[in-house]
Amino acid sequence: MMNLPIRPRRNRKSANIRGLVRETSLSPEHLICPVFVHEGDGNQPISSLPGCTRWSVQGLVEEAKRLMDLGIRTLDLFPAIPDDKKTPDASEAYNPDGLIPRTIYALKSEVPGMTVMTDVALDPYNSDGHDGLVEFRSDGTMEILNDDSVEVLCRQALCHADAGADIISPSDMMDGRVAAIRATLDSEALDDVSIMAYTAKYASALYGPFRGALESAPKEGDKKTYQMDPGNIREALREAQLDEAEGADILMVKPATLYLDVIAAMRSHVTLPVAAYHVSGEYLMIKSAAASGWLDEREAVLETLTSIRRAGADMILTYYAPQAAEWLKQER
Ligand code: PBG
Repeated sequence: MMNLPIRPRRNRKSANIRGLVRETSLSPEHLICPVFVHEGDGNQPISSLPGCTRWSVQGLVEEAKRLMDLGIRTLDLFPAIPDDKKTPDASEAYNPDGLIPRTIYALKSEVPGMTVMTDVALDPYNSDGHDGLVEFRSDGTMEILNDDSVEVLCRQALCHADAGADIISPSDMMDGRVAAIRATLDSEALDDVSIMAYTAKYASALYGPFRGALESAPKEGDKKTYQMDPGNIREALREAQLDEAEGADILMVKPATLYLDVIAAMRSHVTLPVAAYHVSGEYLMIKSAAASGWLDEREAVLETLTSIRRAGADMILTYYAPQAAEWLKQER
């Protein structure tokens, strides 16, 4: 026998001991479920996101009741807007009778315990498919306008808050939008409505399946003049300082698994809660490997979500929320 008084394996010798020493917890209360809603009747499978659904408003109400029972208490709404309502000025984004306000009313009246969060950005409404307004120049170049876009984003945020949204989540990455949205909400006595800022949203290859779900891909150009360069981390902390100073309640990093270092850095530099978005491409990486029988889906998902929590995320937005909640319920 080795003379070995220090044996770390003693703390791994049984499930009970492993439970006592586990540093990171994962439970349904940490999860937010992003959901897609459309204007028509009936629920549609989403071909670019197998396992996810484009819900009718009523279909989403029924799904929300099921999610409540599973312990998922926050939904993030994304609208599929028909092409004939998409315009260069994205005015459907603040239509008080639009799809999102109607969905909020339905959820709030029929599933009152559900916290409803909405995405604020123009890409589902904008015929150009960009998160802000686009100016096309005579020399053939284009620009995503910052300050003009922020005005529209404020109207959109107000429209969602008026309809009863609990949390507004600007995903557009325009400068100064958090302060502007905060001021707009406060001026209408909506000071109780929270802001979860997409603080460090990277220009990632992993959003493709989501854009397929909403048919919201940019018609021209890319999102690199507003979303962040994947090589940067100090810039994420700069964005965090700004969002904190501008009055954000929660900061988000997106995507999650390729950016665990950013989550950890943000956690150690700010006192605000940190969220991470496990995006559509990250979901599909596991989904497709599992469908081929190459990965154990349950083990891979729970390990992934635990790792995002370990890196420092207080909460995780994930398309796996319903399934993870089911798996967590089965776990001893
Ligand atoms: C749009 C938005 C995107 C996502 C959330 N809000 C796509 C994008 O920026 O192009 C991505 C979510 C995902 O991939 O799961 N403002």
